Amino acid sequence: MTASSAGAFISFEGGDGAGKSTQIKLLADAIRDAGREVVTTREPGGSPGAEAIRKLLLEGSADKWSPVTEALLMSAARADHLERIIQPALARGAVVITDRFADSTMAYQGLAGALGEKTVIALYDLVVGNRGPDLTLILDLPIEEGLKRAGATGGQEQRFESKGAAYQEKVREAFLEIARREPDRCFVVDASGSAEKVAARIRNIVEKKLPALFNA
Ligand code: TMP
Repeated sequence: MTASSAGAFISFEGGDGAGKSTQIKLLADAIRDAGREVVTTREPGGSPGAEAIRKLLLEGSADKWSPVTEALLMSAARADHLERIIQPALARGAVVITDRFADSTMAYQGLAGALGEKTVIALYDLVVGNRGPDLTLILDLPIEEGLKRAGATGGQEQRFESKGAAYQEKVREAFLEIARREPDRCFVVDASGSAEKVAARIRNIVEKKLPALFNA
């Protein structure tokens, strides 16, 4: 990394089981190979405080939280994550890649859930403001495939997967809608096929949008 490198903030979004973690690892390795510091992180979570909130959010029954409480918990986790992990990393010139960010709140709580867009936008203005991602990659996959992959990973964090296929279909549509609204920032990536094929699609977009990352 050169002293003058500017930080860059990239988020990955998409339905459950779209292969985000594999793709984040591949992209992070490619950017590190080009000589940059890369911080990979996730939401909800990413900082110790936000990871504690993650546990509250992802374990338990589907109706454990009301829509507004759920969005407030997501936002509280995001505020801590931004303050303690993302902003300091960007300030020292690192590339931050997060597995989910605020578009997930718009998709899951705002557009597919019962909260509505206005509240989500108000929370965004409060917590994120102009500190949002430079580039967002939305991994798109038919929901049956995504749920199969997500189910295969198992574990306790099944609260959102357990909300059913109709909800997941709405989430998929919501991400596509977000991409239509913000075409300069958001790019939809076909997440079907081998990990290598998907990685090549992603690399293509990142090289065009943030060429400096590969010319450190
Ligand atoms: P993941 O770590 O497997 O992606 O799981 C996180 C779950 O939390 C996923 O089902 C999406 C959900 N989620 C929201 O509903 N709203 C949010 O703002 C975020 C960050 C995640």
